[in-house]
Amino acid sequence: MKKLILTACVAAVAATGFAQQKGLKDYYKAYFPIGVAVSPRALATEQGDLVKKEFNSMTPENAMKMGPIHPREGEFNWRDADSVAAFAKRNSMKLRGHTLVWHTQAPAWIFKDSAGGQVSKEVLLQRMKHHITTVVNRYKGTVYAWDVVNEAISDKPDEYLRPSLWYQICGEEYIAKAFQWAHEADPKALLFYNDYDEINPVKRAKIIRLVNSLKAAGIPIHGVGLQAHWAINEPTRPQLESTLKDFAALGLQMHITELDISVYPKEHSARERRPSDSDTAFTPQKEQQQIDVYKMSFELFRKYRKNISSVTFWNISDRFTWLDNFPVRGRKDHPLLFDRNLQPKKVYWEVLKF
Ligand code: GLA
Repeated sequence: MKKLILTACVAAVAATGFAQQKGLKDYYKAYFPIGVAVSPRALATEQGDLVKKEFNSMTPENAMKMGPIHPREGEFNWRDADSVAAFAKRNSMKLRGHTLVWHTQAPAWIFKDSAGGQVSKEVLLQRMKHHITTVVNRYKGTVYAWDVVNEAISDKPDEYLRPSLWYQICGEEYIAKAFQWAHEADPKALLFYNDYDEINPVKRAKIIRLVNSLKAAGIPIHGVGLQAHWAINEPTRPQLESTLKDFAALGLQMHITELDISVYPKEHSARERRPSDSDTAFTPQKEQQQIDVYKMSFELFRKYRKNISSVTFWNISDRFTWLDNFPVRGRKDHPLLFDRNLQPKKVYWEVLKF
């Protein structure tokens, strides 16, 4: 009965175009917090009002990454991260920290000695420890969950860990150390390993292998972040169901950390523009395909509510998304629930029908 009434209300509000009072976070209150990746610049515009109304969790899209926050040795740039943290506090929103150790957007200095050569393992681990300790300490009590290590697994089927500079210089050990030091800095923070293409069974098995090895070694890890950068053609329902089932079996929390559903078939690598890429219209067909994948995904998220403790969208609306420049530079995408004018798309209402 309750279900029927909710569905009827949602439909009525959608049909009359009423400015509805409730946001996504309210409809999903009994399930999980609904988060969004933000920049301080967006929060200062009318997008900040949308964020307050619809979401109860945030992740800084870039502000806490190592490059932006620690651009030079001994120099931290707190401004943007502090501003996002203050917005979260003012509005009683949860804040996820993203990310402590990653091969991309890492500052060049961290891998180099004063002569420009590569640093030793000892020096790099020391620098990493100092970085983690300083950043985690600053946001202690504000950031409740950290993506400690991001994307350490290789995309090559026959390679386990990505041969990043972290790995080349320190070996596998840097991963466990990052978790240990984050935990020492804030024993209450929840610590996540975060990665993409988690729906791919080969990559997934490697993520699970890594998490199991950390658990077996007694390393503090509380969850797996599933980035969920998906598209109109993937994941399929069986693929997502087996993904959630496999990660749930780890007995840790799952956070959906970077959800978006591109309206183009999935491509995993950046490529040159082709003439056909100029067709960027958000057609009724693309809209329906996107609705189908979003509906299916949220159905399964609700089914796995015991294991999933957060769902975060990667960007606020179709006005701006990193997918406008990936995999094809300058190709407009429409992967979110709000359009360029910050209005809820049809898919928004579909995600609320349950
Ligand atoms: C990865 C990272 C995010 C972000 C996206 C692209 O998923 O984890 O921080 O950079 O790529 O925007």
